[in-house]
Amino acid sequence: MDSFGIEKLNFYTPNQYIDLVDLAHARGVDPNKYLIGIGQEKMAVAPLDQDIVAMGANAAEPLMDEDLRTSLGLLVVGTESGIDQSKAAALFIHQLLGLPESMRVMEIKEACYGGTAGLMVALDFVRSHPESKALVITSDIARYGLQTPGEVTQGAGAVAMIVGNKPGVLAIEPNTVVASRSTYDFWRPNYSNVAFAQGKYSEEVYLSMFTEVWDRAENMSLTQSDNLAALLFHIPFSKMGRKGLRTLESKVDATSYARIVERFENSIIYGQQVGNIYTGSLYLGLLSLLENDTSLVEGDRFGLFSYGSGSEAELFFGTIQPDFRAHLDAKKHSSMLKNRRRLSVAEYEHEFEKELVQDGTEQILKRSDFNAPHRLIGLNKHQRSYC
Ligand code: HMG
Repeated sequence: MDSFGIEKLNFYTPNQYIDLVDLAHARGVDPNKYLIGIGQEKMAVAPLDQDIVAMGANAAEPLMDEDLRTSLGLLVVGTESGIDQSKAAALFIHQLLGLPESMRVMEIKEACYGGTAGLMVALDFVRSHPESKALVITSDIARYGLQTPGEVTQGAGAVAMIVGNKPGVLAIEPNTVVASRSTYDFWRPNYSNVAFAQGKYSEEVYLSMFTEVWDRAENMSLTQSDNLAALLFHIPFSKMGRKGLRTLESKVDATSYARIVERFENSIIYGQQVGNIYTGSLYLGLLSLLENDTSLVEGDRFGLFSYGSGSEAELFFGTIQPDFRAHLDAKKHSSMLKNRRRLSVAEYEHEFEKELVQDGTEQILKRSDFNAPHRLIGLNKHQRSYC
């Protein structure tokens, strides 16, 4: 049978962060609350010129070559930090990457599930057009507001994935389990530039939907925990994934549980440095596991749990391919994370309060990242320009 899945993937995060110990001191909180209670260490802070379009293009650019450009039939951007109610962020990225006109380009939304929605649309597309490839980009800036309970769970970044019939990294199985339920656990009305959350309730819905899809997958004999090398979670903050993991202790045998727990530690390394990147968090976890776990081998089978508030969940499965490490770049990603600038709390707060003009006057932005090929140059007459 033909296999379809992720051929290559890459991520980008802005080159500045706030250290959560600094933030804890400024907020009068015991640093262990953030480091252990939430399970995060650093949080990426997006400058104005790295919006979701620029970050998405920066994540995708290193994956591009001429053959790929001509074989792309679909570009989907999953985001919940949209920059326009009508025009898709994907069209700006399509232009920045120099992609052909003869392809479908769209933006998709369902909170953090939007990345998985994009991946599933892309898989359906390449299964019915095996001669074509799809580019899926997840790009988000998580904002809850200064001095809110959600503040410590912000972040920014993008993950790009090439999807096709030569899945050099992860072949994805067609059988998945989904669940949809309307809830008000986390949302962002059109008039607000920060999200609202009923934090504890959102954790309950996440866990209840995880249990629902896991149990249904079990009934369909999809989980087979003895052959699950790892289980990846949507990680808004690492403690959330850990809570999901704990619900499995009574459901799988002790050896499988120990293996899954061990692999979980490698899946959260990047996310603990970046924070929540909403649509991309699950895929940042996938990249973190693949690039940091030296014990993984071809044929290892993963479960992937995607969750988006509001709420939508999907549990799907994939198998690592021969030579998957040839399609990754662990060195580049760890140096990208190491070489970021540490902001003081005052600088972070100043960055957080900055805004793009909303009255159509001209605004030119300072370039923040000289290693990133793409950025937002500025706005004029309500139009954005990028390079
Ligand atoms: P909070 O008010 O800080 O909660 O909100 P807390 O006071 O209960 O503290 C959090 C944890 O720290 C607790 O542990 C404390 O015991 C512990 P837990 O009971 O959770 O295991 N703690 C300490 N640990 C060690 N040393 C200490 C210490 N002090 C306290 N000294 C909350 C936390 C996550 C609710 C908040 O940050 C929030 O609202 N975040 C945003 C919502 C969110 O991320 N929800 C996750 C599920 S929904 C989801 O994943 C979707 C999402 O990604 C959006 C989308 O789909 O688009 C968010």
